[in-house]
Amino acid sequence: MNLYEPASFGALQLSNRIVMAPLTRLRAGADGVPNELLVEHYAQRAGTGMIVTEGTWLVPESRSYPGQPGIYTQAQIDGWRRVTDAVHAAGGTIVVQLMHGGRVSHTGITGTARIVAPSAIAAGGATHLADGTKADMPVPHALLTDEVSETVEVFVQAARNAIAAGFDGVEVHGANGYLIHEFLAPTSNVRGDQYGGSPENRSRFAIEVTSAVAAAIGADRTGIRLSPERNIQGVMEEDAADVWATYTALTEGLAPLGLAFVDVLHHEPTGDLVQHIRRTVGAPFIANTGFATPTTREEATAIVEGGWADAIGIGRAVIANPDLAHRWQHEAELNEPRPQHFYGATGKGYIDYPTLAEVRG
Ligand SMILES: Cc1cc2nc3c(=O)[nH]c(=O)nc-3n(C[C@H](O)[C@H](O)[C@H](O)COP(=O)(O)O)c2cc1C
Repeated sequence: MNLYEPASFGALQLSNRIVMAPLTRLRAGADGVPNELLVEHYAQRAGTGMIVTEGTWLVPESRSYPGQPGIYTQAQIDGWRRVTDAVHAAGGTIVVQLMHGGRVSHTGITGTARIVAPSAIAAGGATHLADGTKADMPVPHALLTDEVSETVEVFVQAARNAIAAGFDGVEVHGANGYLIHEFLAPTSNVRGDQYGGSPENRSRFAIEVTSAVAAAIGADRTGIRLSPERNIQGVMEEDAADVWATYTALTEGLAPLGLAFVDVLHHEPTGDLVQHIRRTVGAPFIANTGFATPTTREEATAIVEGGWADAIGIGRAVIANPDLAHRWQHEAELNEPRPQHFYGATGKGYIDYPTLAEVRG
């Protein structure tokens, strides 16, 4: 399979197999409304096979960061509509990452009365509040069993809002230590009900959310991101047998849905665990190599052309190179990412990376 060949993932049409990975950039202001900066940033990157947006909050209680966009208010839906229109006009495909941050938050960010999680265990560490001060992350409210079902509905409403905003689909955020991942891991989930304890029970919330979203907007427009063994934000998956059992239960639960794609972040995309997940879930598969070093053209080519995945998720190289697919295909020189601007409020380091044509004048 060639990296530059088109693909169909369910109802999603990819112009090539380089997917823009979800990248939180915090440019959406206090109200979380996508603005001109986001319109420009995403439209510049429409030449990637598919864009997955930054993690986007569903209701205020699910917000993790000041400056993070939401898909809750009408103004947010209208803001995203301008982003999706611009990406479509430039020939791209775009899905929104639906993110519930769970306990990785603070009432000084959400403006809500509480922060929620599977169990009343803090993530550990501190976070920046909306007023710029730092505070320890709180001990969250453990969702009651009924409240877990209500949280499933929060994802469903956000998915409907995504379709209203013109997105081609959604990616359920099940990775990186946020709410769904908190349910999956035994260190953050010590519940005694049907959502805790065994691997089957810990994977139940992820399956219910994804099934309900798929029922609402179509499985052919629904994907999920997972990051087994990521060990971040206090969500630890260090027992290999438990990880295997949990992600087997999860992918067996997802397989009958016929999802558009599954997107897995792991440092060994060609390893047994990731390939087991891929085989078990049976959906079009996006691999991402994780944070250790930015994914290179050589790695991407080896993974897709070696048949280890149907597409590759690329983060930092797409931040720095709006026309990355074109540059890689022509083995052209690359812009270097400027990490000091990964998070920020302005267009600096966000919409000012030149294309190859601009570099060469
Ligand atoms: C600035 C930054 C923000 C990120 N935000 C998200 C996010 O919102 N959701 C997510 O699932 N992953 C997020 N990630 C992880 C990326 O999607 C990707 O997995 C990671 O950058 C590794 O890929 P790369 O080596 O190609 O950069 C983020 C990474 C970076 C560097």
